[in-house]
Amino acid sequence: MTADLRDHEVDDLTLEEAGAELEALAAEIARHDELYHGKDAPEISDGDYETLRRRNEAIEARFPDLVRDDSPSRNVGASPSSGFSQVRHSVPMLSLGNAFHDEDVTDFLVRVRRFLGLEDDEPVAVVAEPKIDGLAVSIRYEKGRYVRAATRGDGQTGEDISANVATIGEVPERLKGEDVPDVIEVRGEIYLGRDDFFALNETREAAGEARFANPRNAAAGSLRQLDSTVTASRSLRIFLYAWGEASTLPAETHHGVLEAYGRWGLPVNPEIALCQNAEELLARYEAIGAMRAGLPYDIDGVVYKVERLDWQERLGFVSRAPRWAIAHKFPAEQAQTVLKDIRIQVGRTGSLTPVAMLQPVTVGGVVVQNATLHNQEEIARKDIRIGDTVVVQRAGDVIPQVVKPILDQRPKDAAPYVFPETCPVCGSHAVREINPKTGKEDVARRCTGGLICPAQATERLRHFVSRLAFDIEGLGDKQITFFWDQETIRNPTDIFDLEANTANKLAEFEGWGEVSARNLYAAIDKRRTIGLDRFINALGIRHVGETTARLLARNYGGFEAFRDAMTAAEVGEGEAWETLINIDGIGETVAGAIVDFFDEPQNRDVVDGLGERLTIEGLEQADDASPVTGKTVVFTGSLEEMTRQEAKARAEALGAKVSGSVSAKTDIVVAGPGAGSKLKKAEELGLTVMTEAEWLEHIGVG
Ligand code: IVH
Repeated sequence: MTADLRDHEVDDLTLEEAGAELEALAAEIARHDELYHGKDAPEISDGDYETLRRRNEAIEARFPDLVRDDSPSRNVGASPSSGFSQVRHSVPMLSLGNAFHDEDVTDFLVRVRRFLGLEDDEPVAVVAEPKIDGLAVSIRYEKGRYVRAATRGDGQTGEDISANVATIGEVPERLKGEDVPDVIEVRGEIYLGRDDFFALNETREAAGEARFANPRNAAAGSLRQLDSTVTASRSLRIFLYAWGEASTLPAETHHGVLEAYGRWGLPVNPEIALCQNAEELLARYEAIGAMRAGLPYDIDGVVYKVERLDWQERLGFVSRAPRWAIAHKFPAEQAQTVLKDIRIQVGRTGSLTPVAMLQPVTVGGVVVQNATLHNQEEIARKDIRIGDTVVVQRAGDVIPQVVKPILDQRPKDAAPYVFPETCPVCGSHAVREINPKTGKEDVARRCTGGLICPAQATERLRHFVSRLAFDIEGLGDKQITFFWDQETIRNPTDIFDLEANTANKLAEFEGWGEVSARNLYAAIDKRRTIGLDRFINALGIRHVGETTARLLARNYGGFEAFRDAMTAAEVGEGEAWETLINIDGIGETVAGAIVDFFDEPQNRDVVDGLGERLTIEGLEQADDASPVTGKTVVFTGSLEEMTRQEAKARAEALGAKVSGSVSAKTDIVVAGPGAGSKLKKAEELGLTVMTEAEWLEHIGVG
């Protein structure tokens, strides 16, 4: 990546460097979002994540023309995964800005005062609440009755988890009281208490199932169950601390609304306090920090929120977070232990990751035995040696990290670590590629064994069948390793020949019964027809994740067109290359990675082999000539000819941006029967308003 570029001050970056770095940051942050929200498996600490976001924002501030459509400043979290139907949040579910130091808290108050233009002696009351380490949820009540519950997803669209949330005993079916609004979406955090987490892990261990790493992952896993009886068995709990759409509110202050929640029967955290200035907030932060270990649930900081709702309204939002709230995070938890060994893991793209093998130590209540050392440069920079006593840290639920060695405890014979130059799995050379843009070495050392390296091949196969790719049920890590060892599945095409190659044999293999074999064949058959976007994502091309895959699918329309164009493209020249890099959202690094992938004959063979075995369905192509290309469209009210989802997909296929809220930037509002406040706002702003029939005529349908 461009980590080397990141050593440059933002002020020193050239236009070209800034563009390259923004592209890399978009991809990197999107990957961490997906790891955190989509896979519940973050790889970096909140602090490091925040550093990436701040860097992105700083570059954007200096080069506003370079702000990308897929910029992380424009979206929050990962897009929703499959398996659950989608719910569009009528009021987006946003994230919070982070404060790590006391000064960040005083700065926050200064910003609030400045924005509101307050006199120096005007007090600003702020509520301090524990930041619960669970999963955000939005629960809709209409006329006091439970209607629906959704995850945050990407902030705009989440997953419908109504059936699962309904099993949580603390979530009332009906709100009680006179002042319950007609419509209210209450928002809060679903979590698993620490004792329930330990009990769950014990049961899982006894049943031979994998343990959850921490309560948050366990809560996430429990909520994402397609079978809600499993969720019901997990003792999930909830605290409510915010709201989305509301026909009216029961109070004019934040804590007034939370008091009403309590009366209505919704659980509210008991440690909420009203503070009048920075000193009181910081004292509360210390106090909550001191009670942290004794609380029966995990918290990872304290959230501060401006108390007056009229001020909250005026303060509004900036990109992904409200100006009226901030999360003050607790520092990472640390401990010391001995580094016994360094092992090298090989990932899907061949990168060699050093992993610290530690003398087991408890860090913040969790036993840590290994920790990431990131890469060769990190080990050298920190001069970490086998035998050293090292400081290990956990921040939130990220993979533990080795912070530094304790030099005065270093054994006399400890030698500097020599990073291997061959792949520990296949023995091929492992090299540090030269970044063509900067002329510098990449931080990661990669195995050059490509498809012959079993580590890369199995990792790629795992990715190929994963949830956002082919999503083949019953073909998990264990089965991939099994078939790899049996030499039955060595590349993706083998998956689709599995039945032909193992007919009548699979059920004889150890651990495979007749039924499980039949189920697996059926699960594979179900995926013989696949969307081009998932197909491209499944290929595991470097830098090409779900979002880029969708972009490519939409732009090339069909499998053959995509394949032919990518095979024809050469880096830096020709029509095919120009077309590729002209796609909004695809830069040279990504384009180069795609072309390199198709340059490799083994990869082309796999792609063609899959093409022969599968029906790959294209996406509608964006049509430049469409009258709505580049326009921002809002759908409101009910549609009669098609579902909202379909209308959205069609509009996007024609190159329009579909938004959930009306603003001066909206070009067209399509209003069906029952349209309310959005239609009113559109009329006030003098925007173009169309009926559904007029819209369809406008886009040339019907
Ligand atoms: S307020 C618009 N309050 O932290 C502001 N969030 O890092 C909405 N969280 O997405 C959030 N405890 O999932 C708020 N007391 C609390 C919270 C809290 C935990 C989570 C929430 C949010 C994330 C932001």
